[in-house]
Amino acid sequence: MKGVIESSLGWRRICYQYAFRTCAKGQRSAGAGKFQSPDVLCIILRMQIPPALNLLAISGSLRANSTNTALLGAAALLAPEGVAITVFEGLGALPHFNPDHADTPSPEVAAFVQAAVDADGLVIACPEYARNIPGTFKNALDWLVGSTQFPDKPVMLFNASPRASDAQAALRLVLSTMSARIVDDACITLDLLGRPWNAAAIVLDSRLAEPVRKALATFCNAIQ
Ligand SMILES: Cc1cc2nc3c(=O)[nH]c(=O)nc-3n(C[C@H](O)[C@H](O)[C@H](O)COP(=O)(O)O)c2cc1C
Repeated sequence: MKGVIESSLGWRRICYQYAFRTCAKGQRSAGAGKFQSPDVLCIILRMQIPPALNLLAISGSLRANSTNTALLGAAALLAPEGVAITVFEGLGALPHFNPDHADTPSPEVAAFVQAAVDADGLVIACPEYARNIPGTFKNALDWLVGSTQFPDKPVMLFNASPRASDAQAALRLVLSTMSARIVDDACITLDLLGRPWNAAAIVLDSRLAEPVRKALATFCNAIQ
């Protein structure tokens, strides 16, 4: 899928440890033809060992410099070992929801619904517009309403603005109506409002990265 950001920090750590050990044992030269670097080994291992959990992250903002999207990008980088987080980037390409087309969805809608259904859980970060969730995000959720496989889908919520309480309440109302399973202990609010953020800056700021890491661990423990 386009726009995939997967957690790779854990894999890189494993691969560098492996390379260090083989080097220490004097096996590095023997294996040099096979594994040019820990990065190559990292790619090979990730191809062979599927992640234990696949999460789909959905941002409710289409803004290029969205704080909510940056937060989800950081979550992908901070994901626990064995957890892959895919950030969905097709929100703006979804057509307006129309019940007449629910049984014959466009390829964009079909891909979105399939990704949500296949995911072990959803990580949602959504801004507040006019004291509610943005129309584009509600539109995406409407496409999921008819799915018989959506009920009981585990969901965690990241709120990037402490003042966005109405949107959070609205989001919870919609998701509970859809019979999603919101994992309350994994839902957190961070203050990213009004400042430019990107995923790397969030990862490097321990006041933000630690709560994200902890919330993801709580979520993964709850749904495993
Ligand atoms: C059209 C519009 C309406 C908004 N309405 C609200 C609002 O009702 N309450 C609020 O707290 N913030 C409101 N905001 C501010 C956004 O929620 C805030 O800028 C948020 O950080 C945007 O998220 P993003 O950075 O992920 O795009 C509004 C912003 C826009 C563009």
